[in-house]
Amino acid sequence: MLERLQKIISAAGITSRRASEELILNGEVTVNGVVVSELGSKADPDKDVITVSGKQLRVSEKRVYILLNKPTGYITALKDSQGRKLVTDLLNGVPERVYPVGRLDYNTEGLLLLTNDGEWANRLMHPRHEVEKEYHVRVRGKIVDQQLRLMADGIELEDGKTAPAVVSLIKDGELNDWISVAIHEGRNRQVRRMCEAVSLSVVRLKRIRYGTLSIGTLKSGQFRYLSEAEARELIDGPQKTAAGKIASGSKERPRVNHVQKRISQSPQPKAGVSKRGAGEIKTK
Ligand code: URA
Repeated sequence: MLERLQKIISAAGITSRRASEELILNGEVTVNGVVVSELGSKADPDKDVITVSGKQLRVSEKRVYILLNKPTGYITALKDSQGRKLVTDLLNGVPERVYPVGRLDYNTEGLLLLTNDGEWANRLMHPRHEVEKEYHVRVRGKIVDQQLRLMADGIELEDGKTAPAVVSLIKDGELNDWISVAIHEGRNRQVRRMCEAVSLSVVRLKRIRYGTLSIGTLKSGQFRYLSEAEARELIDGPQKTAAGKIASGSKERPRVNHVQKRISQSPQPKAGVSKRGAGEIKTK
Protein backbone atom coordinates (compact mmCIF):
# COMPACT_ATOMS: atom_id res chain seq x y z
CA MET A 1 0.00 0.00 0.00
CA LEU A 2 1.27 3.46 -0.88
CA GLU A 3 2.03 5.66 2.11
CA ARG A 4 3.72 8.97 2.65
CA LEU A 5 7.46 8.58 2.99
CA GLN A 6 7.73 10.45 6.30
CA LYS A 7 5.10 8.12 7.76
CA ILE A 8 6.96 5.02 6.58
CA ILE A 9 10.26 6.28 7.99
CA SER A 10 8.84 7.22 11.40
CA ALA A 11 6.82 3.99 11.60
CA ALA A 12 10.04 2.06 10.97
CA GLY A 13 11.40 3.61 14.12
CA ILE A 14 14.17 5.67 12.55
CA THR A 15 13.00 8.93 14.06
CA SER A 16 9.92 11.10 14.60
CA ARG A 17 7.65 12.23 11.77
CA ARG A 18 9.00 15.78 11.87
CA ALA A 19 12.63 14.66 11.81
CA SER A 20 11.77 12.29 8.92
CA GLU A 21 10.57 15.28 6.94
CA GLU A 22 13.92 16.96 7.54
CA LEU A 23 15.72 13.85 6.28
CA ILE A 24 13.61 13.90 3.10
CA LEU A 25 14.18 17.64 2.52
CA ASN A 26 17.92 17.13 3.06
CA GLY A 27 18.02 14.54 0.28
CA GLU A 28 18.90 11.68 2.64
CA VAL A 29 16.09 9.42 1.40
CA THR A 30 16.01 7.31 -1.75
CA VAL A 31 13.26 5.15 -3.23
CA ASN A 32 14.45 2.45 -5.61
CA GLY A 33 17.78 4.24 -5.99
CA VAL A 34 16.34 7.69 -6.73
CA VAL A 35 16.68 10.56 -4.24
CA VAL A 36 13.25 11.82 -3.17
CA SER A 37 13.40 15.24 -1.56
CA GLU A 38 9.80 16.37 -1.91
CA LEU A 39 7.48 16.17 1.07
CA GLY A 40 4.30 14.28 0.32
CA SER A 41 6.02 11.71 -1.93
CA LYS A 42 4.67 8.21 -1.45
CA ALA A 43 6.13 4.73 -1.58
CA ASP A 44 5.08 1.16 -0.85
CA PRO A 45 7.08 -0.14 2.13
CA ASP A 46 6.39 -3.75 1.09
CA LYS A 47 7.57 -3.36 -2.51
CA ASP A 48 9.92 -0.39 -2.78
CA VAL A 49 13.52 -0.31 -1.62
CA ILE A 50 13.80 2.72 0.66
CA THR A 51 17.09 3.94 2.08
CA VAL A 52 17.71 6.58 4.74
CA SER A 53 21.21 8.04 4.97
CA GLY A 54 22.47 5.14 2.87
CA LYS A 55 20.89 2.40 5.02
CA GLN A 56 18.02 0.27 3.82
CA LEU A 57 14.86 0.60 5.87
CA ARG A 58 13.71 -2.44 7.80
CA VAL A 59 9.99 -1.98 8.12
CA SER A 60 8.98 -4.99 10.14
CA GLU A 61 11.04 -4.51 13.33
CA LYS A 62 9.21 -5.51 16.50
CA ARG A 63 7.80 -2.48 18.31
CA VAL A 64 9.29 -1.95 21.75
CA TYR A 65 8.54 0.59 24.47
CA ILE A 66 11.13 1.26 27.15
CA LEU A 67 11.01 3.20 30.41
CA LEU A 68 14.48 4.27 31.54
CA ASN A 69 15.46 5.96 34.80
CA LYS A 70 17.96 8.37 33.27
CA PRO A 71 20.86 9.40 35.48
CA THR A 72 22.38 12.88 35.19
CA GLY A 73 25.40 13.10 32.91
CA TYR A 74 23.77 11.39 29.93
CA ILE A 75 22.61 13.15 26.81
CA THR A 76 19.18 12.45 25.32
CA ALA A 77 20.36 12.01 21.73
CA LEU A 78 21.56 9.23 19.45
CA LYS A 79 24.96 10.83 18.87
CA ASP A 80 26.98 13.64 20.36
CA SER A 81 29.77 15.62 18.75
CA GLN A 82 31.30 16.26 22.20
CA GLY A 83 31.56 12.54 22.97
CA ARG A 84 29.27 12.64 26.00
CA LYS A 85 27.51 9.50 27.21
CA LEU A 86 24.22 8.75 25.44
CA VAL A 87 21.03 7.47 27.06
CA THR A 88 21.08 4.55 24.62
CA ASP A 89 24.44 3.46 26.14
CA LEU A 90 22.36 2.31 29.13
CA LEU A 91 20.19 -0.07 27.09
CA ASN A 92 22.33 -3.19 27.28
CA GLY A 93 20.77 -6.13 25.46
CA VAL A 94 18.23 -4.08 23.51
CA PRO A 95 18.72 -5.06 19.84
CA GLU A 96 16.10 -2.69 18.42
CA ARG A 97 17.10 0.77 17.28
CA VAL A 98 15.12 2.88 19.72
CA TYR A 99 15.16 6.63 20.15
CA PRO A 100 14.01 8.92 22.98
CA VAL A 101 10.50 10.34 23.14
CA GLY A 102 11.20 14.00 23.81
CA ARG A 103 14.18 14.91 25.91
CA LEU A 104 15.55 15.42 29.37
CA ASP A 105 18.46 17.82 29.91
CA TYR A 106 21.94 16.47 30.51
CA ASN A 107 21.59 17.32 34.21
CA THR A 108 18.00 16.13 34.57
CA GLU A 109 17.29 12.62 35.80
CA GLY A 110 14.28 10.35 35.88
CA LEU A 111 11.66 8.88 33.64
CA LEU A 112 12.56 8.80 29.95
CA LEU A 113 10.66 6.81 27.33
CA LEU A 114 12.34 5.29 24.30
CA THR A 115 10.77 3.43 21.40
CA ASN A 116 11.11 2.38 17.78
CA ASP A 117 7.41 3.10 17.17
CA GLY A 118 7.34 6.46 15.43
CA GLU A 119 3.57 6.78 15.45
CA TRP A 120 3.40 6.20 19.20
CA ALA A 121 6.15 8.75 19.81
CA ASN A 122 4.37 11.27 17.60
CA ARG A 123 1.13 10.83 19.47
CA LEU A 124 2.87 11.45 22.78
CA MET A 125 4.78 14.48 21.59
CA HIS A 126 2.03 16.14 19.59
CA PRO A 127 0.99 19.38 21.36
CA ARG A 128 -2.68 18.37 21.05
CA HIS A 129 -2.10 15.20 23.08
CA GLU A 130 0.52 16.59 25.45
CA VAL A 131 0.51 14.19 28.36
CA GLU A 132 1.03 15.46 31.91
CA LYS A 133 4.58 15.14 33.17
CA GLU A 134 5.46 15.47 36.84
CA TYR A 135 8.83 16.62 38.15
CA HIS A 136 10.31 16.77 41.61
CA VAL A 137 12.56 19.76 41.99
CA ARG A 138 15.00 20.45 44.79
CA VAL A 139 15.52 24.16 45.09
CA ARG A 140 18.08 26.13 47.06
CA GLY A 141 16.80 28.04 50.07
CA LYS A 142 13.27 28.50 51.27
CA ILE A 143 10.26 28.93 49.07
CA VAL A 144 7.47 31.42 49.65
CA ASP A 145 3.94 30.59 48.57
CA GLN A 146 3.86 33.42 46.07
CA GLN A 147 6.54 31.67 44.01
CA LEU A 148 4.45 28.51 43.84
CA ARG A 149 1.34 30.50 43.00
CA LEU A 150 3.08 32.27 40.11
CA MET A 151 4.32 28.98 38.67
CA ALA A 152 0.88 27.40 39.02
CA ASP A 153 -0.92 30.29 37.31
CA GLY A 154 1.47 30.51 34.37
CA ILE A 155 4.62 32.52 33.87
CA GLU A 156 5.65 34.78 31.03
CA LEU A 157 8.76 33.23 29.47
CA GLU A 158 10.60 34.41 26.36
CA ASP A 159 8.60 31.93 24.23
CA GLY A 160 5.23 32.89 25.74
CA LYS A 161 3.21 32.33 28.89
CA THR A 162 3.24 28.83 30.33
CA ALA A 163 -0.06 26.99 30.73
CA PRO A 164 -1.40 26.54 34.27
CA ALA A 165 0.59 23.93 36.21
CA VAL A 166 0.01 21.88 39.33
CA VAL A 167 2.62 22.96 41.84
CA SER A 168 3.03 22.01 45.47
CA LEU A 169 5.59 21.95 48.25
CA ILE A 170 6.45 18.34 49.05
CA LYS A 171 9.35 18.68 51.47
CA ASP A 172 10.31 21.53 53.68
CA GLY A 173 14.02 20.90 54.30
CA GLU A 174 16.68 22.62 56.41
CA LEU A 175 18.64 24.04 53.51
CA ASN A 176 16.61 23.01 50.47
CA ASP A 177 12.92 22.60 49.73
CA TRP A 178 11.43 20.07 47.31
CA ILE A 179 8.52 20.97 45.09
CA SER A 180 6.39 18.98 42.66
CA VAL A 181 5.62 20.56 39.30
CA ALA A 182 3.21 18.90 36.85
CA ILE A 183 2.98 20.37 33.36
CA HIS A 184 1.38 19.42 30.05
CA GLU A 185 3.66 21.37 27.77
CA GLY A 186 7.05 20.15 26.63
CA ARG A 187 9.06 23.29 26.02
CA ASN A 188 12.81 23.28 26.15
CA ARG A 189 14.14 23.46 29.76
CA GLN A 190 10.65 24.50 30.82
CA VAL A 191 10.76 23.60 34.51
CA ARG A 192 14.20 25.16 34.99
CA ARG A 193 13.09 28.33 33.23
CA MET A 194 9.86 28.50 35.27
CA CYS A 195 11.92 28.22 38.45
CA GLU A 196 14.44 30.82 37.28
CA ALA A 197 11.57 33.20 36.47
CA VAL A 198 10.52 33.20 40.14
CA SER A 199 14.14 33.34 41.39
CA LEU A 200 14.33 29.70 42.44
CA SER A 201 17.71 28.05 41.97
CA VAL A 202 17.36 24.40 40.89
CA VAL A 203 19.71 21.98 42.63
CA ARG A 204 18.16 18.77 41.34
CA LEU A 205 15.46 17.98 38.78
CA LYS A 206 13.86 14.58 38.38
CA ARG A 207 10.91 13.49 36.24
CA ILE A 208 8.93 11.02 38.28
CA ARG A 209 5.79 10.56 36.18
CA TYR A 210 4.75 10.63 32.53
CA GLY A 211 0.96 10.43 32.20
CA THR A 212 -0.12 7.11 33.72
CA LEU A 213 3.46 5.86 34.13
CA SER A 214 5.51 6.38 37.28
CA ILE A 215 9.21 5.81 37.77
CA GLY A 216 8.35 3.45 40.65
CA THR A 217 11.27 1.60 42.18
CA LEU A 218 13.43 1.55 39.06
CA LYS A 219 16.98 2.44 40.09
CA SER A 220 18.99 5.15 38.37
CA GLY A 221 20.41 3.79 35.08
CA GLN A 222 17.97 0.86 34.98
CA PHE A 223 15.25 0.33 32.39
CA ARG A 224 12.26 -1.91 31.83
CA TYR A 225 10.04 -2.75 28.87
CA LEU A 226 6.47 -1.50 28.97
CA SER A 227 3.72 -3.98 28.27
CA GLU A 228 1.57 -3.29 25.21
CA ALA A 229 -1.30 -2.41 27.53
CA GLU A 230 0.84 0.17 29.35
CA ALA A 231 1.98 1.67 26.05
CA ARG A 232 -1.60 1.83 24.78
CA GLU A 233 -2.95 3.21 28.03
CA LEU A 234 -0.46 6.06 27.89
CA ILE A 235 -1.97 7.41 24.68
CA ASP A 236 -5.57 6.23 24.97
CA GLY A 237 -6.11 6.49 28.74
CA PRO A 238 -7.14 3.63 31.04
CA GLN A 239 -9.28 1.03 29.24
CA LYS A 240 -12.69 0.07 30.61
CA THR A 241 -13.62 -3.59 30.85
CA ALA A 242 -17.10 -4.86 29.95
CA ALA A 243 -18.02 -4.61 33.62
CA GLY A 244 -17.03 -0.95 33.59
CA LYS A 245 -13.95 -1.45 35.77
CA ILE A 246 -10.72 0.27 34.89
CA ALA A 247 -8.26 -2.22 33.39
CA SER A 248 -4.84 -0.74 33.96
CA GLY A 249 -1.89 -2.05 31.91
CA SER A 250 0.44 -1.45 34.80
CA LYS A 251 0.13 -2.65 38.36
CA GLU A 252 0.27 0.95 39.44
CA ARG A 253 -2.88 2.98 39.29
CA PRO A 254 -3.04 6.08 37.09
CA ARG A 255 -1.60 8.86 39.21
CA VAL A 256 -3.63 11.78 37.92
CA ASN A 257 -5.97 11.82 40.91
CA HIS A 258 -3.01 11.64 43.21
CA VAL A 259 -1.65 14.85 41.77
CA GLN A 260 -4.98 16.55 41.83
CA LYS A 261 -5.42 15.59 45.45
CA ARG A 262 -2.23 17.43 46.18
CA ILE A 263 -3.60 20.63 44.68
CA SER A 264 -6.19 20.82 47.40
CA GLN A 265 -3.48 20.17 49.98
CA SER A 266 -1.75 23.37 49.02
CA PRO A 267 1.48 24.15 50.88
CA GLN A 268 1.16 25.28 54.45
CA PRO A 269 1.56 29.02 54.82
CA LYS A 270 4.96 29.88 56.25
CA ALA A 271 6.30 32.64 58.40
CA GLY A 272 5.56 35.99 56.83
CA VAL A 273 2.79 34.63 54.62
CA SER A 274 -0.83 34.26 55.57
CA LYS A 275 -3.64 32.64 53.65
CA ARG A 276 -6.97 34.34 52.96
CA GLY A 277 -9.60 32.66 50.81
CA ALA A 278 -9.22 29.53 48.72
CA GLY A 279 -6.61 29.99 46.05
CA GLU A 280 -5.61 33.38 47.29
CA ILE A 281 -2.37 34.12 49.10
CA LYS A 282 -1.39 37.32 50.79
CA THR A 283 2.12 38.31 51.70
CA LYS A 284 2.31 40.32 54.91
N1 URA B 1 12.18 20.77 32.22
C1 URA B 1 13.47 21.13 32.29
O1 URA B 1 13.79 22.24 32.64
N2 URA B 1 14.39 20.19 31.99
C2 URA B 1 14.10 18.94 31.63
O2 URA B 1 14.99 18.13 31.39
C3 URA B 1 12.75 18.58 31.57
C4 URA B 1 11.81 19.53 31.87
